[in-house]
Amino acid sequence: MLLPITLLSFSWFASVQAGSQTHGENCSVSANRLQVGTYQLYTECDTVTFCNSSGLCDLKRCRRDDYPFGYQQDSDSIPPKCPRGQFCPDEEDACQPLMPVGSACQLNRDDQCQAPENFAQLADNTPHGLNFNGSVCLNGLCMFANVTLGLTCVVENTAYIGYSGSDEFIDIVSRGNCMNGMYCDSQQKVCIQSKALGVSCDADKECLSYNCLSSGTCGKAAEAPNHFGTWVYAIVAIGIFGGMFGTLTGLFIVHRRQRDSEREKRMQYWREQNAFRQNIMNMRQSARDSILSLPKNGTFSNRSSAMYSHEGPGSEDSQAPMMPHSTTKSSGLRQQYYDDNSTEYDDGIMVPERRPDGRF
Ligand SMILES: *[C@@H]1O[C@H](CO)[C@@H](O)[C@H](O)[C@H]1NC(C)=O
Ligand SMILES: *[C@@H]1O[C@H](CO)[C@@H](O)[C@H](O)[C@H]1NC(C)=O
Ligand SMILES: *[C@@H]1O[C@H](CO)[C@@H](O)[C@H](O)[C@H]1NC(C)=O
Ligand SMILES: *[C@@H]1O[C@H](CO)[C@@H](O)[C@H](O)[C@H]1NC(C)=O
Repeated sequence: MLLPITLLSFSWFASVQAGSQTHGENCSVSANRLQVGTYQLYTECDTVTFCNSSGLCDLKRCRRDDYPFGYQQDSDSIPPKCPRGQFCPDEEDACQPLMPVGSACQLNRDDQCQAPENFAQLADNTPHGLNFNGSVCLNGLCMFANVTLGLTCVVENTAYIGYSGSDEFIDIVSRGNCMNGMYCDSQQKVCIQSKALGVSCDADKECLSYNCLSSGTCGKAAEAPNHFGTWVYAIVAIGIFGGMFGTLTGLFIVHRRQRDSEREKRMQYWREQNAFRQNIMNMRQSARDSILSLPKNGTFSNRSSAMYSHEGPGSEDSQAPMMPHSTTKSSGLRQQYYDDNSTEYDDGIMVPERRPDGRF
């Protein structure tokens, strides 16, 4: 539970607390020490060098991090990581072969120890792995994490200083050499079965999930992913598809209204034009009637038919005086067509109906 904060402050110190001697400058190996609270190795040399046995700062020859501090990201001078079967010590001076059981190792460096024969059985492969390939480094000595339930075990308690906002607090990390699923009790020094979720606990190590909540019970692992109920997925899906179809429907309705109003405008225009045309035809008819009612002779009727054919295509003479007359009467004619409730406002159909002889 407190581990991430500890690691965070650890890396923060790593970026700040290094020596100032550069490559080739003098240093003292006896000045090497672990920093208070973080247990980071401090030397008088800077972040890219270590203090060698001649008392001079020499370039580091191995690294432990993928992205080591102090180097440009694309630098050619980044030292290599050690191959499997070797380790890079805290000084990062050179790769060394893994240490056999019982030999010295550095604090919290389980990866410096040789694996046991039955490493596959002893290795803790959980994300918060409490050993490396079945080996642990406790109190500076390599050992196997092979102690079974109820037997005597070795425990190592390390007090780190954690930082939370402006507060400092002590985070005690307790490690032991019990097998997977057990922890080494600090008082009795025997291996005890780890606790399941919801069981009361005093420290992270007592929980199988390695997370003892502040409420004093084992919580789910800190690295465990959050799972959401199916109803959350359902609501999100409804939101997505509802938004999509809502937008589409809204646009469809808006455009349909626009189309309807445009159609109505065109219809209105057509009605006015048709009424206008009808008006002209009526006037032509009345004019013709008045001409026919005059005393008849052959030349007159010939002249009248010639006049009609001249008027037919729509001369300016006949239309120009019509315009004011037809506009004043247009509302009445339009009303008449509404009252007719006729749907077939088509020139080609209506005209022959009114005048079957084909003449206007
Ligand atoms: C480096 O060498 C100089 C001269 O010998 C000495 O005065 C100084 O204390 C040395 N510095 C370190 C960090 O050893
Ligand atoms: C220590 O480092 C210096 C500077 O790189 C180098 O000249 C010297 O040979 C190194 N000494 C040993 C023992 O490696
Ligand atoms: C674990 O140890 C075995 C035996 O030494 C070795 O073959 C294997 O590569 C190791 N696994 C890891 C992840 O180091
Ligand atoms: C457990 O490991 C230790 C070395 O740490 C070894 O001496 C001992 O025999 C091992 N016990 C078992 C049961 O394998």
